[in-house]
Amino acid sequence: MRIFAKILPLLVGVFLIALLSLNFVFKVRKGLTEIAVFSDSQRFVLRPPAIEASMENDEERDSLSIAKKMFRLYDEVETFVLFIGYPRSQHSLIGAILDAHPEVVIPHEYDLLKNLYRFESRRAANKNIQKYMLFNELRQTSETQALFGIRANRNNSLLGQREYTYNVPGQWQGGFDKKIKVIGDKKGGTTSMLLANPKNMESLEKIGQIVQIPMKFIHVTRNPFDNIATIMLRRKSSREKVRADGAEKVNETNALNSSINFYFRMAFANQRIKERYGDAVLDIPGHEMVLRPAETLHKLCDHLRVTCSDDFIKKCSSILYGSPSVTRNLVVWTKEQKARVTKMMETVSVLKDYSFDKYPE
Ligand SMILES: *[C@@H]1O[C@H](CO)[C@@H](O)[C@H](O)[C@H]1NC(C)=O
Ligand SMILES: *[C@@H]1O[C@H](CO)[C@@H](O)[C@H](O)[C@H]1NC(C)=O
Ligand SMILES: *[C@@H]1O[C@H](CO)[C@@H](O)[C@H](O)[C@H]1NC(C)=O
Repeated sequence: MRIFAKILPLLVGVFLIALLSLNFVFKVRKGLTEIAVFSDSQRFVLRPPAIEASMENDEERDSLSIAKKMFRLYDEVETFVLFIGYPRSQHSLIGAILDAHPEVVIPHEYDLLKNLYRFESRRAANKNIQKYMLFNELRQTSETQALFGIRANRNNSLLGQREYTYNVPGQWQGGFDKKIKVIGDKKGGTTSMLLANPKNMESLEKIGQIVQIPMKFIHVTRNPFDNIATIMLRRKSSREKVRADGAEKVNETNALNSSINFYFRMAFANQRIKERYGDAVLDIPGHEMVLRPAETLHKLCDHLRVTCSDDFIKKCSSILYGSPSVTRNLVVWTKEQKARVTKMMETVSVLKDYSFDKYPE
């Protein structure tokens, strides 16, 4: 009995502690449920960080924080543009020139399809900020390239002396004037290569869902014989050598075969994109940019629904010189290869007017 009296307080204590901790566990669980429910409902409550359209006067605009200004800027973008095409087809030049437009931001080879996963986190989706994250990254990439990269003034560029830069002096590369109407990515060859796998076509739909604005495409083409020859010469790093000694053609039937296959996988993917997106795809023969810059720039601006000022056209044209590069005769084509390429060209609408014998295209 005395023993029981002694341990009774202990038992009561243990009982009370058990009761309290049970209650605690229950409360915590309830709390967790509440948090979970709360964040679930948040999915529907949270709005994109858009700024009310009514704030139009300058004073109010000036009083916005930098972040709000940027969100507002990205909200005004009207068109998302992607380059499709082929490596070695002049699309880098066209991308750089469009980036020089005051209302267009297009970095050099950001490679959106490869980086798409970065914008697919659930948190970003729940908060509806994927578009802003993507646009911000594209704009920053374009800015860095114009400061120190492939579009910088020679004196600031980190590229080697021999590498080509796409600097357009006195224009808007890496930036914009007041508004960005068009934003996008130029990674033509890889984009088309990835889309050669029909499964990846879904990625384009995903991009459409992220950007929530109309998508447009720029499809830069070049005579397939020149394009394939240049791809092969670059792979073999023999272009400089061919240029240097001139006379001797590169005779590598296997390597040329593999470049032909590589090229047409992209051509067929681009054809599928055209079938799927119709008028949203603009075909631009790359050589047109050098031969008829004003006309070509107008076509591009019309497609993207921005205006081309005379100053823009003049300054862009000033960096274009030379004639379209013809490389088809630097390699040996077998009769079979010529015939096969010609036959495949006939099945691709934008390629069927090219031929081995026609110049300058
Ligand atoms: C690069 O720097 C040199 C020397 O300062 C200058 O003369 C030249 O005009 C600069 N080039 C460009 C493209 O600005
Ligand atoms: C190219 O190489 C093949 C053998 O690999 C040879 O039969 C052919 O004559 C060569 N063609 C030219 C134009 O040199
Ligand atoms: C190149 O490809 C064609 C068609 O696939 C084939 O008939 C030919 O034998 C190939 N040539 C070489 C050298 O592999």
